[in-house]
Amino acid sequence: MTDKAALNQWYCLDPLDVVPQGDSKNILLGQPLDIHRTAQNFAVHANGQPVRHMLGFGHLWATLGRPDAGLPEIAEATEPDRRHVPCGGVMVRASGLRIVENFLDMAHFPFVHTDILGSEPHTEVLHYACEIRRDVDEVWATDCKFVQPKAALSATDAIDTRYMYRVARPLVVMLYKTCPSDPDRWDVICLFVQPLGPELCRAHAMMFLIDSTSAQRDLIGFQQVIFLQDRIILENQRPRLLPLEPRLETPTRADASSIAYRRWLKEKGFVYGTTLGPAETTSAAWRFGATLEQ
Ligand SMILES: [Fe+2]
Repeated sequence: MTDKAALNQWYCLDPLDVVPQGDSKNILLGQPLDIHRTAQNFAVHANGQPVRHMLGFGHLWATLGRPDAGLPEIAEATEPDRRHVPCGGVMVRASGLRIVENFLDMAHFPFVHTDILGSEPHTEVLHYACEIRRDVDEVWATDCKFVQPKAALSATDAIDTRYMYRVARPLVVMLYKTCPSDPDRWDVICLFVQPLGPELCRAHAMMFLIDSTSAQRDLIGFQQVIFLQDRIILENQRPRLLPLEPRLETPTRADASSIAYRRWLKEKGFVYGTTLGPAETTSAAWRFGATLEQ
């Protein structure tokens, strides 16, 4: 039922610091997973069979298929003065692809993240460049600019924030944005999306920041406030699946990155979480989601 393109991916399951010692459960693509953690090791099984897994960017990852590649490289992750800020997984009743698309969208900043990532009258999305980079097989949007009242926890004034967006895998997306404390460098915010079912997922935010003063809990809190604002919007979108039929949703100029993303997914034959793929999220996935929300 799950297409090859969706199976042959690495997906984030959890930040390492929340995976308990001993046995725990998780779900990936509707498939229940048994995780066993010892002091040195992780084991992941589905239906009693071993599942390939790896550690990366402070998280546990797994695949139910045979990915061509490992995790994308994020050069900033290895810089010695970066703060590593895993923000934890947030459940969202929507397709993971919807979450990536929302992450790429700047038009909602003034209306959804009012007085943080945007404010009226600065509502216009200025022209930006967007392309599918064939050499690396990634979608990039560059030259993005937005006036932001509070671009980051470390921002003291409104700044003209510059952005670059990078979709490295269908459900691994990151942005590079002006670092308020060092204009020559970028803060990096990643979203690792874990599909529990076609219409249910968890978003694991991971930040690599230049910020030597803020407390870790405050950095996480700032990001969580923003993502919970997004979640309200995401859970109210219909259909919950990403529409891939032409003309189902009329794009505007601001949606150049969304158009490129959908085209790229179509080229890959990635239909899980789209209106062309399976629609039903398994009851096991819903139950697991419910346990996480308690
Ligand atoms: Fe948002």
